[in-house]
Amino acid sequence: MASWTLAYEGFDPDQEALREALCTLGNGYFATRGAVEESDADETHYPGTYLAGGYNRLVTDIAGRPVENEDLVNLPNWLPLTFRPEGGEWLNLPSTQILVYRQELDLEQGVLRRVMRVRDREGRETRLTARRLVHMGSPHLAAIEWTLAPDNWSGGIEVLSALDGRVTNSGVTRYRQLDGKHLIPLIAEEFGEDGLLLVAETSQSRIRIAEAAQTHAYSNNERIKSERQFRQDHGYAAHALSFEVAEGSPVTIEKIVALHTSRDRAISSPEQAARNTLRKSGRFAALLEDHTRAWSHLWRRCDIVMEGAQRTQMILRLHIFHLLQTVSPHSVDLDAGVPARGLHGEAYRGHIFWDELFIFPFFNLRIPEITRALLCYRHRRLPMARWLAHESGYRGAMYPWQSGSDGREETQTLHLNPKSGRWLPDNSHLQRHVNAAIAYNVWRYYQATGDHEFLSFYGAEMLFEIARFWASIAVFNPIRGRYEIRGVMGPDEFHDSYPWSDTPGLDNNAYTNVMAAWVLGRALEARNHLDAERRTELDESLGLSAEDLVAWDEISRKLMVPFHEGVISQFEGYERLLEFEWEAYRERYGDIRRLDRILEAEGDTVNRYKASKQADVLMLFYLFSSDELGHLFNRLGYSFEKELIPRTVDYYLRRTSNGSTLSGIVHSWVLARSDRAESWMQLKDALESDIADVQGGTTPEGIHLGAMAGTVDLIQRGQTGLEIRDDTLRLDPCLPHELQGLSFRIRHRGQWLDVEIKGGRITVSASESWDGPSRLVIGGKSYPLGAGEVRQVACHYPQRGDDRAEGG
Ligand code: BGC
Repeated sequence: MASWTLAYEGFDPDQEALREALCTLGNGYFATRGAVEESDADETHYPGTYLAGGYNRLVTDIAGRPVENEDLVNLPNWLPLTFRPEGGEWLNLPSTQILVYRQELDLEQGVLRRVMRVRDREGRETRLTARRLVHMGSPHLAAIEWTLAPDNWSGGIEVLSALDGRVTNSGVTRYRQLDGKHLIPLIAEEFGEDGLLLVAETSQSRIRIAEAAQTHAYSNNERIKSERQFRQDHGYAAHALSFEVAEGSPVTIEKIVALHTSRDRAISSPEQAARNTLRKSGRFAALLEDHTRAWSHLWRRCDIVMEGAQRTQMILRLHIFHLLQTVSPHSVDLDAGVPARGLHGEAYRGHIFWDELFIFPFFNLRIPEITRALLCYRHRRLPMARWLAHESGYRGAMYPWQSGSDGREETQTLHLNPKSGRWLPDNSHLQRHVNAAIAYNVWRYYQATGDHEFLSFYGAEMLFEIARFWASIAVFNPIRGRYEIRGVMGPDEFHDSYPWSDTPGLDNNAYTNVMAAWVLGRALEARNHLDAERRTELDESLGLSAEDLVAWDEISRKLMVPFHEGVISQFEGYERLLEFEWEAYRERYGDIRRLDRILEAEGDTVNRYKASKQADVLMLFYLFSSDELGHLFNRLGYSFEKELIPRTVDYYLRRTSNGSTLSGIVHSWVLARSDRAESWMQLKDALESDIADVQGGTTPEGIHLGAMAGTVDLIQRGQTGLEIRDDTLRLDPCLPHELQGLSFRIRHRGQWLDVEIKGGRITVSASESWDGPSRLVIGGKSYPLGAGEVRQVACHYPQRGDDRAEGG
């Protein structure tokens, strides 16, 4: 079915890296790129396998300076499987004559399929059907099934199946000057009658990785008695199977692989666990059945069904699929965060950023246990965040901009501009707003689930410590009578300092200041949700005093927000920057998304211009409803007239290059109510970001998980106007014209709610144990919504065609 399948016709070496990223299979524990089995890493192929939380540190000398990086390690490659007819050459796509080639990612079953027919130099034609899975039910298992059919020949065939630990991290060209050899091979041996075992260890973090594999050949479902030969190298173990095949009679090869590491619980050693898991695994068909069942359970919770927009439907499912492969129910028991680029490639070294902010709304409404686990990743790193705050002279907890294994700051200090070839100082660690994102995520999770115990034991502590950080970084300016936050960066990474100053950082970034005010207010509010005993415990252990609380309240009312020309300023002094010549640069360069690199290569700097990489001020309109914002601004003592939003939106939309895929998500969201046609266009662009690799080369290095999740959220909340607040569930859909219907489920406070929007009717069905909100508001009218109730409401919701009529 087209809406469940990402399909590619033909083999295209230039597209292969992109396909590999998009065809990655994973289960939240580990993931493997969709690289072909028969090729090692080379110009065309990059097989990569990544473990959630599997990091290692290395130091490289760059221009006489030691540069230390922590990377998500490329684990031993478990894919290698190839064949050759006796006396022929090993299968190699670039040099083989390919007669038929089709690759399909089946999103419903989580299976990667490849169908091909190849002809070798001697004219022997062979058909190959490959299927692969990374098991969603048993997270330590993966399997490949090859069906080989000699079309016009009979004779001997050799099949080579290997585990290869000689791999390095070399998937991102601009990192290649940095050391990428993370693995130390330890064991490469065979065991039992047919097993292979490969054990390696990361050089610094000492994570021990064990892979065990067995490969069998079958004809008519009977094991073929093949000759088996063990081949070994340092960090490499293989079995070569030789047997006879007959023209027109297909044979099946099954390779089953088990992967364990020393980070696993409930094991004795990774190597024993890998051997045991493999021994108990069964055959491919049985694995596939369990795997498909696990996926069907996930789809039941997570699918969004669209009517009318088939390509959009398929891409949306692709996005949900990759979200669930990066973090899944298996993540709940892990100490791992959600890397911005998935477990799909090596960009950003597998680090964890603020992108969670875009990812959690999807999980909050579907599998909130996953959000909880990911928030616990942050909670475990609270002591490190406290230390980071302390080292910088602040109180409370200051989370790092980029986080990895132990929560220290992982942002590199130098980065390479591939356009100029220069290594430049990287100030992006000044994005202190990541702290506000973590606090925001804590609060939204609590609101969606009512998980009081989480708030009590983990959430409140993070909120209080982050509030304390904001209270200590904010400095009172007696002349203004306001608190200020100086020397930071907002989400827009183009601006890291003033053109007239040598000191990195900007003052009073509006997004940061408003978020800080919000966090301080929520920290105070959270206190009322704790029982007196827990509150006392926290006050005692954190050393919180009455003065702290008075200060939080005061700062939350007096943080400064800059304005100019009737709009919110991105930061103080923004109005002094030059207007950028957008059209001239577009004409000269075409794609100007990475304007920072273009200008730097020209000897200029983007810091001089009113030009943003991504939504910054507009993030406020993304995260808060206008009611919430009005309240926040009024509390801060600023008037918030209605026109401020459209004016500010319009101002920054015209001054943003969308150099980050997160930007289109925010823009589509903020336009959803005012300019539906444009909002839908932005959403369509965001949907294409990875599948079409719109940034030209970034997706092969890893998907953009924040943008993927953002698109799903734009459908589930943005296009439907779904909002839950004050014991009320609001729906205010504005579906684009090509979307004739939409249905999905959400989970709220542990209960399911089904929503269908179709044919001018909205149907809302609450589960038998629905526990509120008890009111439903559609089109301004209020209806009661009790347990087990189904409400069907006729409703004229605008569609994109209507917009045109309105001139919108
Ligand atoms: C964006 C950041 C984002 C990071 C990881 C950068 O390009 O500017 O906002 O957190 O990518 O996705």
